[in-house]
Amino acid sequence: MPKLQANKPLLGVLEGKRLAVPPIWLMRQAGRYLPEYRTIRDQAESFLSLCFNPRLAAEVTLQPIRRFGFDAAIIFSDILVVPHALGQHVTFEAGEGPRLDALRDPEALRRLRRSLDDDVLAPIYDTIGRVKSKLPAEVTLLGFCGAPWTVATYMIAGYGSTDQLPARLFAYRHPQAFAELIGVLVEASADYLARQFEAGVEAVQIFDSWSGILPTGEFRKWCIEPIARIVAMVHDRVPGARIIGFPRGAGTELQRYLAGVPVDAVGLDWMTELHFARDHVQKRCPVQGNLDPLALMVGGETLDRSVDAILEALAGGPFIFNLGHGILPDTPISHVERLIARVRGASAAR
Ligand code: CP3
Repeated sequence: MPKLQANKPLLGVLEGKRLAVPPIWLMRQAGRYLPEYRTIRDQAESFLSLCFNPRLAAEVTLQPIRRFGFDAAIIFSDILVVPHALGQHVTFEAGEGPRLDALRDPEALRRLRRSLDDDVLAPIYDTIGRVKSKLPAEVTLLGFCGAPWTVATYMIAGYGSTDQLPARLFAYRHPQAFAELIGVLVEASADYLARQFEAGVEAVQIFDSWSGILPTGEFRKWCIEPIARIVAMVHDRVPGARIIGFPRGAGTELQRYLAGVPVDAVGLDWMTELHFARDHVQKRCPVQGNLDPLALMVGGETLDRSVDAILEALAGGPFIFNLGHGILPDTPISHVERLIARVRGASAAR
């Protein structure tokens, strides 16, 4: 479906091109570090009502494009709209993160729908149409979903933690029920991504924020295989669909991930060693990443040195500049401006 448009640098990289000035966007580029976001956020009753309000969600999606001129806009929403559309109650408490009606045992799975409630997600497709019509010609529109494993960690625990232990325990104790849940999420995610393409996105990213906590065998079962099924299903419905994988914390599993999942680019977290990334990842697939969000928050020479090291290692091949995880709310706007100037300036001078 999405053909190369010469004026969209990010799509060019997803087709394997190396660009002299790499395209740049940031995970969570629309968010609380922007005063204009906080203004809109205050107008919405809750975080989810912002996600499901096409007028406001489109505005928030476009804010970082207007302010910084990023090469991609990512639709403003959240990975947890999928469990919400499967009938699980989801809320976001200020300062505490997501709260879901936890799935404590296999019995609890019966409360879930088997497929997405289209009415719940319809506003997101509406947002996509609105953003598309207002986006500068050279900016790529990205959709996204969470990977089944990462989404399941929140569904089972009912909240996020630093070890996501409840889902890991559930998967060991009830492998069959867990596989059933992952199966529902695979179908739902593939359907959701295909619909985002049909509504106008030009590429999607699959966020697997918690893939790094699984041992090898579990990583294959709960990360690689389900994502490979999603990619195959999306490609069936949307031939040529461009997909970026982001298996955060995968480390040395990255190579197995790439062997098992035919993504068009892989997002690297900030822990990924740059020469390993260049020699063992970028040789097989375009890469995206991987500035430490803390280096961006700190700014100054720490930021400059980190940016230069990344460009030095990765800008010689197909590469999209990004963070290694989402931008932090305390990040000063002037640091983001400095980052963009450095990536565009230093790259042009190379
Ligand atoms: O990148 C973007 O600008 C698009 C929007 C986007 C959000 N969440 C908005 C958001 C995207 C792509 C996500 C993905 C997401 N959501 C992930 C995967 C990436 C990652 O960060 O690991 C995960 C795990 C979630 C679940 C989630 N949503 C958590 C744990 C939290 C609370 C923690 C936090 O950072 O506030 C959210 C809330 C959330 N999602 C906010 C935003 C802008 C903050 C809500 C607010 O207070 O305004």
